[in-house]
Amino acid sequence: MCGIVGYIGSKCAAPILTEGLEKLEYRGYDSAGVAVLNSGAIEIRKFKGRLAVLDEDIKKKSIEGNIGIGHTRWATHGEPSDVNSHPHANEKSSIAVVHNGIIENYMEIKEELQAKGYKFVSETDTEVVCHLLDEYYDGNLVEAVQKVVGKLEGAYALGVMCRDNPEELIAVRMTSPLIVGIGEEENFIASDIPAILKHTKNVYIMDDGEMAIVKKDSISLMKIDGTPITKDVYEVNWDVEAAEKGGYDHFMIKEIHEQPKAIRDTLSPRLSNDNTIKLDDIKLTKEDLDNFNKVYIIACGTAYHAGLLGKTLIEKYVKIPVIVDIASEFRYSNPFIDEKTLMIMVSQSGETLDTFEALRLGKSKGARIMAVTNVVGSSIAREADDVLYTWAGPEIAVASTKAYTTQMASFAIIALDMAVKKGSISDEEYEVAINELKQLPDKAAEILEDIDFVKDLAEEIYESEHVFYIGRGIDFDVAREGSLKLKEVSYIHSEAMQGGELKHGTLALVEKNTPVIALAAQDRLYDKMLSNIKEVKARGAHVIALAKKGNKEIEKSADRVIYIPDVTDELSSALSVIPLQLLAYYVASLRGCDIDKPRNLAKSVTVE
Ligand code: F6R
Repeated sequence: MCGIVGYIGSKCAAPILTEGLEKLEYRGYDSAGVAVLNSGAIEIRKFKGRLAVLDEDIKKKSIEGNIGIGHTRWATHGEPSDVNSHPHANEKSSIAVVHNGIIENYMEIKEELQAKGYKFVSETDTEVVCHLLDEYYDGNLVEAVQKVVGKLEGAYALGVMCRDNPEELIAVRMTSPLIVGIGEEENFIASDIPAILKHTKNVYIMDDGEMAIVKKDSISLMKIDGTPITKDVYEVNWDVEAAEKGGYDHFMIKEIHEQPKAIRDTLSPRLSNDNTIKLDDIKLTKEDLDNFNKVYIIACGTAYHAGLLGKTLIEKYVKIPVIVDIASEFRYSNPFIDEKTLMIMVSQSGETLDTFEALRLGKSKGARIMAVTNVVGSSIAREADDVLYTWAGPEIAVASTKAYTTQMASFAIIALDMAVKKGSISDEEYEVAINELKQLPDKAAEILEDIDFVKDLAEEIYESEHVFYIGRGIDFDVAREGSLKLKEVSYIHSEAMQGGELKHGTLALVEKNTPVIALAAQDRLYDKMLSNIKEVKARGAHVIALAKKGNKEIEKSADRVIYIPDVTDELSSALSVIPLQLLAYYVASLRGCDIDKPRNLAKSVTVE
């Protein structure tokens, strides 16, 4: 999704803005631009396409000036084009605006402004902000912004600069994320931390309905109505290297390799030597747990797949029924929520709009809200009653990998903690589960020790038009994740199917050499899966099975076998997914895809 960067200080603004935008590239975008105040005039450069096009233009003809705003756009209103790119400006080019999110009532405002004679050049919703500012501006930029915001509806963040107020940048947050970076004799605004991390680790995380007046040597924070506010400075605890590729070809492969550490970092602070669990920001008591009669787990995409494991673990250990739903569906359904409902929102970014709105819906009906998220201070974390942070570190590749495995590990620890409090697990079962969980990082590392085999498998399937993934129970859940990974990074059509459901339709698509990835990592369902493997093999499929180490029998039925270390059925999917991530990565690499930034996708989906 779109990205914002702003700078005010004594240095040349343009390179700081473009470098910041580069760090936001992972969010997904289709055009980029900057506006810089240069010798009493606002100069705007903006182009459709990669940031390199903008960089090239600035290299040819540099822009001077120490105050500016920049933007990467992910098209919502109007196609990707130079004219629809941000920043946008009023007709006299005295006020420039960058904007993330959507202004829902822009059509109505546009018609009003057109009736007054304002001419629109783009198809964007953003342009109404520029002309409205023009209409309200009488020398006081802050007041003009306040009036404009009073008219806008939607979820958005704004960065505003004005030729006639050269000492300040204005930032506004209405739902869409925005931070203010605190420097020395220079300050920043940005939609995400990596954009300014090179310059400062101290930030203010803005809340909904807040505004910042950012000057070179001061930052004033206030509510939109002007009421001053104070905020704690948030100190970022990771550094620039964590957001760099560190010798790997892509962030995706780097992040796949970071999984043992990410799982360890997520688990070990919560697990003591005596096997007790301590969850920092989860305050659920036995009384709370006895009160719940159901749990909803709500998320999108990969986070939803992690939620499916959450259901298995919570139902097994805590013995409360769990419904897992996609946030964009849940919002428009008629869910049964009241004070007896626990809702667990899963989101790497903590900013996914549908998940956030689902949270608000649950809250309004009295549910207790828990968040599992990777981003400290994100919107979802802030509005939840209880939070479990996954300590995966920054995830830059659009395709989620380490966030997923840490979400899975988090569900294991949440379910066990709830079960102990509720008294729904025996001591023996608990000990087995905890001991297994403690070994998870090492077992993940073992898989990553030998990955050449997966590269060979990628060679076998990378030219296929379709790939099927099959599994049962949690093997099916992880099959869905494997299939999603393959399609999003390699653009090969792929489908995941329950092993037992194949013969009810999808089997018709299996013919000679159709690749079928068959997950058979659970002892409980192994025999059933073996029958399904034989079914597809009999139709000529090229079967790549995934099983636990030591299972030699499966080699008789499958063409290839990927082995994972021995593990309990409950935790097997947290390991099975790793070879599937690698497979997707190597297939995409052979097909020459833009792995970290797949077409049409964005890292943080902050629009509906
Ligand atoms: C797929 C992927 C997406 C995200 C989804 C939710 O690889 O990354 O499916 O999982 O957009 O994002 P978060 O977890 O940030 O809410």
